[in-house]
Amino acid sequence: MSTNLSKFRTSKIGARMSQLTGVRAIMKDIIETLRLGKDRKFYNFSAGNPLIIPEVEQLWREFTAALLAKKDFANVVGRYGGTQGYEPLIEAVVSDFKSRFGLNITERNVLITPGSQSLYFYAANAYGGYLEDGSIRRIVLPLCPDYTGYGGVSVYSDVVKSFRPALEIEEEQHRFKYHPNFDDLEIAEDTGCVIFSRPSNPTGNVLTDDEVRQLAAMAEQVNAPVFIDSAYGPPFPALNFTEMTPIFGSNIIHCMSLSKAGLPGERIGIAVGPEEVLQTLECFESNSCIHASRFGQALVTEAINSGKLAELSTKVIRPFYKSKMQILEQALDHFMPKDLPWFLHKGEGAIFAWLWLKDLPCTDVELYHKLKEQDVIVVPGNTFFPGLAEPWSHTSQCLRISLTAPDADLTEGLKRLASVVKSVY
Ligand SMILES: Cc1ncc(COP(=O)(O)O)c(C=O)c1O
Repeated sequence: MSTNLSKFRTSKIGARMSQLTGVRAIMKDIIETLRLGKDRKFYNFSAGNPLIIPEVEQLWREFTAALLAKKDFANVVGRYGGTQGYEPLIEAVVSDFKSRFGLNITERNVLITPGSQSLYFYAANAYGGYLEDGSIRRIVLPLCPDYTGYGGVSVYSDVVKSFRPALEIEEEQHRFKYHPNFDDLEIAEDTGCVIFSRPSNPTGNVLTDDEVRQLAAMAEQVNAPVFIDSAYGPPFPALNFTEMTPIFGSNIIHCMSLSKAGLPGERIGIAVGPEEVLQTLECFESNSCIHASRFGQALVTEAINSGKLAELSTKVIRPFYKSKMQILEQALDHFMPKDLPWFLHKGEGAIFAWLWLKDLPCTDVELYHKLKEQDVIVVPGNTFFPGLAEPWSHTSQCLRISLTAPDADLTEGLKRLASVVKSVY
């Protein structure tokens, strides 16, 4: 905790890093609301936490039991390991990616991190910030909205830069989709690295393969690495509802997370990419935490080697959330007034829906408070535009709706949302 009254003086970086950024600030209000209203029934669509799906829990239980019974157990939890990761896990990822994607990679092309958030922190500070000569290297988010967590990844407050997207709107259907706006996007000499999520949190957008290739080519021109945040992508948790191909390349780092595949508590992230970049990140990791949990890594090794994780992802995790998305779409199409300019982002993946209320007569935060009065909790959209310097009214016209609520709650909550929206317009 750092306040003006504190006798412990933080550095500039300390002061910056001890602030609650992005969605975490609103989460404090949500937690307080839930605490004060503990006897009320809430339709809580704010959760970023994935649900515990019984089949997925069972998978991790089985691998945990098998690990406990193994002779190697003491070695796994009782000893430090290398920063790069638990060797059997690295081998599992190499062999899985070779056979799944036909990649020509070796053990040096894999790095395991304590969750994928840490990966972006290392990347943002290794490639973004200030050079010896005082010049800036920006962390470019090629389109916003994007993951709120990118707002706090740099120790500097002024290096994350994001760009307004182009909007493809289907008026009649009340749907829309963001695309990178290549006319305005600058990936230039001052670009240190590029980061984006695919599928995206908060919008569920999946950048097309061509868009990704174009972004990577632009970054290649200025020797900038591109971190493709695949926390929701294939092969696990495979939370893409539309076809998508993971794209690899000489400046692309494919970043995965085990969090949405049932292991958020174990903090496991996996990066696959060029050795030179991974070595830089590995040093960062070594300095900050030595290595990721070996227990978690050992569990993931077996889950990958057996093929069960990828299978469960496409057979259980994906259909589970896809069905929630369908329920949400049906509810919005049914309850939202046809004559109002509301637009749902195409649900192409992840565990969220993104609603744009064009020309909304109040701000997203005011709407959030009005919805709370009707027991509906969503996340106001403005926190998902980290690094956007220019004013844009769109940023206060959106809401993120989590797909983690029970089906019946989704329907009832969205019915209430529709009626509040109607009254606001
Ligand atoms: C797009 C995206 N990237 C990264 C993360 C962080 O995940 P991890 O638990 O692997 O640190 C999240 C978590 O919600 C996310 O939504």
